[in-house]
Amino acid sequence: MAEAASSENKVSVEHRGGVAIVTIDNPPVNALSFSVRKPLHDTLVRLRDDAATAAIVLTCAGRTFIAGADITEFGKPMQDPDLRALIALLEAIEKPTVAAIHGTALGGGLELALGCHFRVADKAAKLGLPEVKLGLLPGAGGTVRLPALVGPLKALDMITSGAPIAATEALEAGLVDTLATDGLVADAAAFAAVKAAEGGPFVAVRSRRDKIAAADREQLEARIKAVIAKAKGLRAPVACTEAVRNAVLLPFDEALAAERALFVELVTSDQSRAQRHLFFAEREAAKVAGVDKSVKPRPIHRVGIIGAGTMGGGIAMAFANGGIAVTLVEAAHEALQRGLERIEKNYAISVSRGSLSDAAKAARMALLSGTTDYAALADCDLIIEAVFEDMAVKKEVLASIDKVAKPGTIIATNTSYLDVNALAASVSRPQDFAGMHFFSPANIMKLLEIVRGKDTAPDVLVTLLSLARSIGKVPVVVGVCHGFVGNRMLTARGADVEALLLEGASPADVDKAFTDFGWPMGPFQMWDLAGLDISWRNRKALGKTALIADWLCEQGRFGQKTGRGFYLYADGRTAQPDPELAIHIANEAKRLGIAPRVISAEEIIERTLYPLINEGSRILEEGIAARESDVDLVWVNGYGFPLGKGGPMFWARQKGLSGIVDRLNHWHQQTGKDVFKPSEWLKATTAEQTVR
Ligand code: 3HC
Ligand code: NAI
Repeated sequence: MAEAASSENKVSVEHRGGVAIVTIDNPPVNALSFSVRKPLHDTLVRLRDDAATAAIVLTCAGRTFIAGADITEFGKPMQDPDLRALIALLEAIEKPTVAAIHGTALGGGLELALGCHFRVADKAAKLGLPEVKLGLLPGAGGTVRLPALVGPLKALDMITSGAPIAATEALEAGLVDTLATDGLVADAAAFAAVKAAEGGPFVAVRSRRDKIAAADREQLEARIKAVIAKAKGLRAPVACTEAVRNAVLLPFDEALAAERALFVELVTSDQSRAQRHLFFAEREAAKVAGVDKSVKPRPIHRVGIIGAGTMGGGIAMAFANGGIAVTLVEAAHEALQRGLERIEKNYAISVSRGSLSDAAKAARMALLSGTTDYAALADCDLIIEAVFEDMAVKKEVLASIDKVAKPGTIIATNTSYLDVNALAASVSRPQDFAGMHFFSPANIMKLLEIVRGKDTAPDVLVTLLSLARSIGKVPVVVGVCHGFVGNRMLTARGADVEALLLEGASPADVDKAFTDFGWPMGPFQMWDLAGLDISWRNRKALGKTALIADWLCEQGRFGQKTGRGFYLYADGRTAQPDPELAIHIANEAKRLGIAPRVISAEEIIERTLYPLINEGSRILEEGIAARESDVDLVWVNGYGFPLGKGGPMFWARQKGLSGIVDRLNHWHQQTGKDVFKPSEWLKATTAEQTVR
């Protein structure tokens, strides 16, 4: 992280009577870099020994309390004092110590606050231990001190979800002692002075054992089991449960030592490296070539959406969930009604599952209005078309939008494949036009590909990036090509997936290799779920074929919705292998002279992922994606690429690019394709790696 100030002035002290106010100033988020730890350590030693200091308040300058350890220091030798030593020093001070918290107290920041006797928070503050999202656990006593303060059950929820809680909830849970009313630092100083006047001894969090003793162990074990069941192959959530259990079962110092061992295991793991890579990838993706930092977003109060089908409905929910008003436009009343009913039903399911309150459902529905009249779009600041994937239909719809949209309104298309520049030509303001490629289900999937047309204005990109983030999406700016980043790479995978069937793997073999790798489902399960007819139509439009999938479609086997696809679905849901399909594949293989063989799971993964990675490298070479990490974000957030593997390009680098090129070469020869020609990007990058 950028060093914003010299280490001397990152920690300053102001004396207000007997209360010393220690202020940390390490922009942008006051991370606990060495340049903070060292002066903070020295300052605390001085104040501990200073007879004139009766109490210490720890606070931060800028927009937030400490947001955690400095993530950029992980993987490098830790310079002393480390955070644990700092907290031990703080905890042993016999004068009252008070953390004054505003913004976000996260990770190591909250752990430092837990080393204080007391915590005073601003009403808008948030407190949490998000380490699990980085493939880690809190490594400076958080898994041991938080259970002591809020009880093991609450601590388990906070640590395994990584989600911060609001100050009011923190007060209720016992995590903070009081909320500031007259100004944070003044209130914290007054609080500290009262405590000093009352006199000690002041109880350190480590000595509070009442909530640990009262813990319902059976309930704790049940919750731990539930967390493990949802861990999806990730080690960090499981390690978090082990640490919280230790906090209950072991003496404090033993639990602390066990937490340390788990932290060391995790911080050096590939999974955590991958998740840290994705953390920085999200932040990098906000930086767009040719777009200056000073460019301001346009205000977006109301969004118009044309088409209330699968995507239009999901996109409308995504905005309503983010508190943004939506006008939905359909061609006919019946379709509009159907669309609105589907949205209502989706919200009702969330209510029945307990993940949404009735009031929240009503509030979201109240943000949605439907019409068949394009004139209703006149007050929208952004209008997204999500009608059929057909150039002529989309052009007509866009021209109609252009007629009613006010000046400055951004017009966007949700097309999956069509040429965004050609679509931009159907409006009179191509500078206000872009692609907004949401992923299905659009209210759930986090990815948004923002497609930059040749005329798209910088402030349109900035607006869409910030709008996407405000509704919880992960936006990635991509260039114009058939399928953009994600679908183009997916198409590159498709051919080899089918080839594997002809060479002897069954759909179940392929899908199992995928789920074992960490994907939520395999390609055949996915196709059956999405409906085979969609890609069949797309292939026909492009004059392309797929031997097995086309045959299935010709039989009317479109997947789960018809009860038959690559699998049979006797009960409509459970996939069973289909002997008839197996015979058909064997016959086709014979006809083509392909001898069946046993194909390992490793080969299945390599055969399907390497062509995808190769396509990713072409995408980078052509500048369709600005950086490898953008491609990774697309795959993790749009297609379920395993989080713990960091995305295809990160994974490829871990594997070694030259090995991948060799294997691609080998398969091209073996399957009688042309000689494999690596992209310029692959050539350059493998050469660079060899030199290193
Ligand atoms: N270490 C290093 N850099 C960090 C950082 C951290 N902990 N947290 C944020 N940054 C950097 C970001 O990379 C970004 O850098 P850039 O401007 O060069 O791209 C800059 O700070 C601003 O961050 P955001 O763009 O994310 O700012 P926001 O205002 O949107 O969000 C935030 C602020 C909520 C604090 C968010 O940055 C965040 O969630 N940070 C990570 C918090 C976290 O995971 N803490 C735990 C760290 S691990 C730990 O503490 C281990 C301990 O248990 C031992
Ligand atoms: P859909 O068929 O479910 O919905 C399209 C809707 O548009 C229908 O309700 C139709 O009545 C409406 N419509 C058609 N012409 C209209 C007009 N002139 N005015 C108003 N409404 C009109 O299709 P789906 O799946 O929602 O796809 C929409 C777009 O989203 C397509 O471009 C598709 O490629 C893209 N997309 C689809 C994804 C998917 O998984 N289904 C994923 C990402 C993008």
